[in-house]
Amino acid sequence: MSDESAEISGSPEWLALNESSGRFDDLALRRLFTDNPGRATAMTTTVGDLVIDWSKHRVDPDTMSQLFALGHRAGLRERTTQMVTGQRINTTESRPVLHTALRAPAGTVIEVDGHDVVPDVHAELRRMEAFADRVRDGDWTGQTGRPIHTVVNIGIGGSDLGPVMAYEALAGFRHDRVRCRFVSNVDGSDLAAAVGDLEPATTLFVISSKTFTTLETLTNARSARAWIVGQLGEDAVAKHFVAVSTNAEQVAAFGIDTTNMFGFWDWVGGRYSVDSAIGLTLMLAIGPDAFSEFLGGFRIVDEHLVSQPLETNAPVILGLIEVWYRTFCDLPTRAVLPYNRHLHRFPAYLQQLDMESNGKQVRLDGTPVDYETGPIIWGEPGTNGQHSFHQLLHQGTTVVPTDFIVFGWPDTTDSEFPGISAHHDLLVANCFAQSEALAFGRTAEEVAVDESDPQLVAHRTFPGNRPSTTIMAPRLTPSVLGQLIALYEHQVLTQGVVWGVNSFDQWGVELGKVLATAIIPELAPEAAPLGNHDESTNALISRYRAMRGRS
Ligand code: F6P
Repeated sequence: MSDESAEISGSPEWLALNESSGRFDDLALRRLFTDNPGRATAMTTTVGDLVIDWSKHRVDPDTMSQLFALGHRAGLRERTTQMVTGQRINTTESRPVLHTALRAPAGTVIEVDGHDVVPDVHAELRRMEAFADRVRDGDWTGQTGRPIHTVVNIGIGGSDLGPVMAYEALAGFRHDRVRCRFVSNVDGSDLAAAVGDLEPATTLFVISSKTFTTLETLTNARSARAWIVGQLGEDAVAKHFVAVSTNAEQVAAFGIDTTNMFGFWDWVGGRYSVDSAIGLTLMLAIGPDAFSEFLGGFRIVDEHLVSQPLETNAPVILGLIEVWYRTFCDLPTRAVLPYNRHLHRFPAYLQQLDMESNGKQVRLDGTPVDYETGPIIWGEPGTNGQHSFHQLLHQGTTVVPTDFIVFGWPDTTDSEFPGISAHHDLLVANCFAQSEALAFGRTAEEVAVDESDPQLVAHRTFPGNRPSTTIMAPRLTPSVLGQLIALYEHQVLTQGVVWGVNSFDQWGVELGKVLATAIIPELAPEAAPLGNHDESTNALISRYRAMRGRS
């Protein structure tokens, strides 16, 4: 990153954007479209199978020039090169950030400390594939000789959200026999619900944890282990548990033979790891070929990221527009609304990707930012949201930039359910109508044509001018899912570079973990004396103890 970035908020590019931020109030989107025929064509960018219409944003060519200038000023090009070539841009953990190496084609050379990591990536993929084939073919059997029917992935955060999101998204590509379940929460109901109706003899646990020290995952893994051992004996662990981790020592200490461990590297962040061995459960479900297509999808967007100038670079454009809204227009949240039921975990996945990456208050050098950074990401699949929170999107006092994601073809065909494909036009029409209504609204004059009661005119008026992106692809395939994820990964990168924060650490989750560790013994039946908490926390602990008869 250029030296100037530390002073980014004092740069001429920043100040110019500050001055521009009031230019798009009122009916700006109506005006922008009326004044500029061809705007939608000019502001639609294609990458791979993704067609991204960003014309319904409160920007014009001048704003975009200012944003691109800011991207150049922030050193976006240089930072991207540093990332993909393995430089230690995660400075607070002194690590490279190389999720792009996980999908690099064989033969690419990406060195970390003089060692080419690409052959390691491909060797691990081959091990995963061999294992997945054995499980899927019924050749890997449990302790009693029966094939595996259920894979239970135990992990949390990046070791859960990516695999479960992709498993749900690619429902149509799953193996007929091998189904998967996902356990993340330390709430015992999560594990109990996932395994309660399973047969131990046909169940395989994949314990996924980059560090293999995470409280939730290890607690669930220990309980799962006890369940298997209780039913099938100690020797069954080797047949019913595999691990995915970077920490072979802890995996062995837990009691999983490291020959049954699939590895990755400290240069893969948890939230950027679905395409590493953390994707093992997904590969077990969709098979090595579809997993390879999934990786190919990421690669299409990676190549676009490094080859396209900022001005035609899809993730850069989306990232800069987010910076515009969050920092200059003071819009705190962004909704992600997939009009596809199979993407129902995609907003949750993006929450971690974006909010854990850019929810930061200091710059790389530790100095506080004097501007707003990461947005709050949230969302639900359409059309459900239209009948719950869209009221606020259309007429609330907060403007929420929105991402719509929609596909040309339905996932479910008439051969699966007679006549079902007719639903798809309705789904898509609703998606398009939402972005149209948000952008262009309905003025009081337009409402008054049919409504004579002035009070009702006010209630029925839509302010419009509410921005959105619409991302379309023909179908939700493994490749398209990879493309979508990479698009958002690089959008997050863009935002973080402009804000000058470290998008690849997550110190903000540490304090809660430390305090929970202190509180755990204070809740136990034979409690340690109350710790040095505040009055409220002490009262909460005492109340809990009383409820449990542990006073
Ligand atoms: O607590 C946050 C976090 O560290 C995430 O960044 C990570 O994805 C998750 O916990 C799980 O960590 P692990 O894979 O090491 O169990």
